[in-house]
Amino acid sequence: MNKPLIIANWKMSLAPNDASLAAKKLSKAFSKFGAASVVICPSFTDIAAVGSALEKSAILLGAQDCFWEDYGPYTGEISIAGLRSYGVSHIIIGHSERREHLHETDAMVNKKMLAALAADMVPILCIGETFEERRTNQKEHILQRELMNAMHATWLTKANQLIVAYEPIWMIGSGQDINDDEIEHTHRVIKQTLYDLLPDTVVDTQIAIIYGGSVNPENVRALVSQPSVDGVLVGGASTDPIVFSSLIHAAAK
Ligand code: PGA
Repeated sequence: MNKPLIIANWKMSLAPNDASLAAKKLSKAFSKFGAASVVICPSFTDIAAVGSALEKSAILLGAQDCFWEDYGPYTGEISIAGLRSYGVSHIIIGHSERREHLHETDAMVNKKMLAALAADMVPILCIGETFEERRTNQKEHILQRELMNAMHATWLTKANQLIVAYEPIWMIGSGQDINDDEIEHTHRVIKQTLYDLLPDTVVDTQIAIIYGGSVNPENVRALVSQPSVDGVLVGGASTDPIVFSSLIHAAAK
């Protein structure tokens, strides 16, 4: 198994001082840690402080969103060039909370994907079904639609890496359990869809498929032990440095 990929999505959950303090603690704990690849995605307003706290550590800096244009009259938006200037290497794209609360569409997600890949950023593309969609057997169709629309007209060069995060919407922040076999099966469906879209070698060497939704220090080991789960996207359990450190240790065992 490759090193598990562990991505923290801090959402809008931490006060500014708490974000830089948490980053300092994690940076200290993981300055030489090599058994997992860790990325922290703070909110935009904390990116500078968290970035400088992580400078001397192996932890990478991510953003929770981006805009698809680099300059222009786009009030409130954040460019990829701007993110890069703070040392951001990864960008979460299409998180279900943005799709729900900000009405982000598949077409917008696709524009962000194209812009992020063109800038050699690593997109963390989020896809996932609602409970109702799962209950009515639409899950695979929804995932394939979101994935294919997000990837429309994209091409991965040798420099590109892509992370697809499968996050069942009903699992996010719920603390519910989901069967590991179901996750493994779904990751295989996602991988097959990627094989249909891209050359096999690109899928095998440049794309990771990770799972998100109520991941915690207790369930992470079983998740990353699944053959098709390359890592995890963690919300709630990533905001406390002690809990997140124990999650990283458990995943990397
Ligand atoms: P959660 O969030 O770990 O709190 O469920 C995951 C996410 O939304 O990325």
